[in-house]
Amino acid sequence: MNILVTGGAGYIGSHTIIELLNQGYKSIYSIDNYINSDESNYSKIEEITGESITYLNLDLKNVDSLRSFFKEYRIETVIHFAALKSVPDSVQNPELYYDNNLFSLINLLTCIKEFGVKQLIFSSSCSIYGNPEVLPVNEQTPFGIAESPYATTKQMGEMILRDFSKINPQVKIISLRYFNPVGAHKSGLIGEAFTKRPNNLLPIITQTAAGLRTELTVFGSDYNTNDGSCIRDYIHVVDVATAHVKAINYLSTMVGENFDVINLGTGTGTSVLEMIHSFEKVSGVKLNYILGERRVGDVETIYADNSKAKKLLKWNAEFNIDDMVDSAWKWQQNMKI
Ligand code: NAD
Ligand code: WQD
Repeated sequence: MNILVTGGAGYIGSHTIIELLNQGYKSIYSIDNYINSDESNYSKIEEITGESITYLNLDLKNVDSLRSFFKEYRIETVIHFAALKSVPDSVQNPELYYDNNLFSLINLLTCIKEFGVKQLIFSSSCSIYGNPEVLPVNEQTPFGIAESPYATTKQMGEMILRDFSKINPQVKIISLRYFNPVGAHKSGLIGEAFTKRPNNLLPIITQTAAGLRTELTVFGSDYNTNDGSCIRDYIHVVDVATAHVKAINYLSTMVGENFDVINLGTGTGTSVLEMIHSFEKVSGVKLNYILGERRVGDVETIYADNSKAKKLLKWNAEFNIDDMVDSAWKWQQNMKI
């Protein structure tokens, strides 16, 4: 089966290509414009797996180039990771996020329709739920008020897909709603790389431990949680990747509805302070952290009901928080930035 992975040089895409190759999918094509990644990630994938893939420098916003790609390669399944993903950046540059994330998706759907692609997996996000009233959130939980233009692009992406699916029953589509992907590949060769200063918790923890930051601020210690800090559902990036491989199997068995949404989380909430303590235990490094003000737009607590993923994808999260911080720390030490 010829599989196209858009954004395959990026964080989740690169880990997913590895798992696809590990599971015997040999015809992998990837397109990326390297706006938030580096082409060298493909050589690392090839080094890890001993397999080769076909990759092209292509901007999904350019529908003509995309058409040429689909004309040349007979793609049956698309996994669409390519998007801009920084929440604060999207607040500063909303037009950039709407333009990139939505036109990329629309161009892709145009080609999917024109070239008879049968299966699509879309990268969605728990940010579509906003600040949920009932926990854990399941797939029936309605969209919340999006806290950023980034989150709005994911809500709109799912709405576009739902409408597209109604008049294109021949295309089976799954939207996977990731919670908080963290960690890195056990080889230490690939992980989350940054073109700008990261603003997510675990990279900030590892950068602080590596001496690249002087201190870490815990954003809020007066929340109504066990220790006063916010709770998230962190999930190892390799578990996210394996879920995509299982989603391909599920797509081929889908009957009736041709559009489905599935949460990808571990189902367990972890607080910011618990994450910090796990890191200190696993790495043996004492973190210089202070308790600070709440961050604007933060949700107090969110974690997934992942029973649908377990049931339909026959998937389970294999890694715990200690595994996540351990692999992230290894990656940080290898990266040296
Ligand atoms: P990433 O930035 O590492 O990877 C995205 C890749 O897409 C990058 O390599 C980038 O260069 C490429 N890209 C962006 N716009 C493009 C375009 N117009 N044409 C071609 N390539 C383009 O991000 P990631 O963490 O791997 O995220 C993958 C997907 O998962 C994204 O859609 C993201 O919104 C979603 N997601 C990520 C997280 C997370 O915390 N990492 C959580 C939920 C959802
Ligand atoms: C986690 C917790 C912070 C930094 C984001 C996106 C979401 C999704 C996942 C893409 C929060 C706290 C953080 C720091 C801290 N991405 N924190 N000090 O905000 O849950 O989700 O990534 O779809 O859309 O919004 O992740 O890692 O930024 O924060 O205390 O220096 O860590 O307040 O409680 P978030 P995060």
